[in-house]
Amino acid sequence: MSTNIELDIDFIRKQFPSFSDDKVNKNIFLENAGGSYVPKTVIDTLNNFMLKTKVQPYADFESSKIAGQKMDEGIKLFSEMINANFEEVIIASSTTMNFYVLSNALSENIKANDEIIVTNQDHEANIGAWRRLEKKGAKIIEWKINNETAELEINDLKKILTPKTKIVAVTHTSNIVGTNNDIKQIAKIVHENGSLIVADGVSHAPHGLPDVKDLDVDFYAFSLYKTFGPHLSLLYGKYNLLKNLPNQNHEFVSDELPNTTLNPGGSNHEETACLIGISEYFDNIYNHHFNKIENNHRSRIKYVNKLISSYEEKIANILLDYLSGKNNVRIIGQRKSANKNRAPTISFILKNKSSKEICDHLVKNNIGIRNGNFYAWRILKALNIDLEDGVVRASMVHYNTESEIYRLIDELDKII
Ligand SMILES: Cc1ncc(COP(=O)(O)O)c(C=O)c1O
Repeated sequence: MSTNIELDIDFIRKQFPSFSDDKVNKNIFLENAGGSYVPKTVIDTLNNFMLKTKVQPYADFESSKIAGQKMDEGIKLFSEMINANFEEVIIASSTTMNFYVLSNALSENIKANDEIIVTNQDHEANIGAWRRLEKKGAKIIEWKINNETAELEINDLKKILTPKTKIVAVTHTSNIVGTNNDIKQIAKIVHENGSLIVADGVSHAPHGLPDVKDLDVDFYAFSLYKTFGPHLSLLYGKYNLLKNLPNQNHEFVSDELPNTTLNPGGSNHEETACLIGISEYFDNIYNHHFNKIENNHRSRIKYVNKLISSYEEKIANILLDYLSGKNNVRIIGQRKSANKNRAPTISFILKNKSSKEICDHLVKNNIGIRNGNFYAWRILKALNIDLEDGVVRASMVHYNTESEIYRLIDELDKII
């Protein structure tokens, strides 16, 4: 898809009430990979739900009926945005929880000596859940990053796939390295081997909502609280796989849809309704930038994804170019953002200063940023980086501005 239309950043900032609060606005927020701000559409949906329909949903009285309808509508809209069906989407409290429940369910098909591939590039959420299956007799095989580039190489995966491989768990985008792994190609290879792929899209989705059918992933999860929504996570699974997974919920609901059987305790009502607000936000972006009617929800998302990724590429390169010019800085991951090779999640370390020292200086100067291992400690171990001090991570999304990045650079310049 080619379009020369550029993201209207002033319009975007106006959608987020946080930016009109002087106190919040004084700070530059660059810890988006930890959790993003929410647009007004999400806040309004939450307020309305709390005011009018904060009751147990799905009963026959008016407020309860509406509550259930709002939750279903939110899930339906989000399913359309990622090209999934309603029955294929499970909304739970976190991605860690979604993977934990999924691994419990899949564990019933795992027998001694089955092999499971995990990476050392993933966040622990998509490693620990699978490593636990060692207790069932599974053999855990690690797909290791190239220690020079911090990237996963597909050729290395090919070498460790065997007829015994049941599951390959891999991140779409690392929350430290930032590289977008070619999940579509990986899924193809994994399927040719007769194995299942579980992809972690947490660090990918905020920069472009995935088309799960096009990627052909078996399972895919991402955290909605990093994708402009409340503290929830979305798990997608192919319906023919989900429907055969054993019930993880109360015994008496075992005949229900996977979004019940694989969601013990169910999803948070008011927050699930907020998915309507996220969808509205993306539609508002579409309507503001494009004056052609596009009825297909996924098609509108494709346009918005393109707008966002071109914009994010531009602001990421400002920081990457600056850091690349410093010989005492080690950037973890690719040094240039182009053709969707990476997310604007930029991690680095300094030769002569700790990551904490850098962050302390930035925080003192009103820049919201963080250092550490961000629960992806295995990458740091492979790269020989202190696990506690970790990396400095500047993570942007499409509401960050060029001037914010220049202010970050001004502050970095005082300390690098
Ligand atoms: C890449 C990645 N995967 C998984 C997670 C875990 O997500 P949650 O906090 O929803 O469990 C995170 C959280 O930071 C993450 O960055």
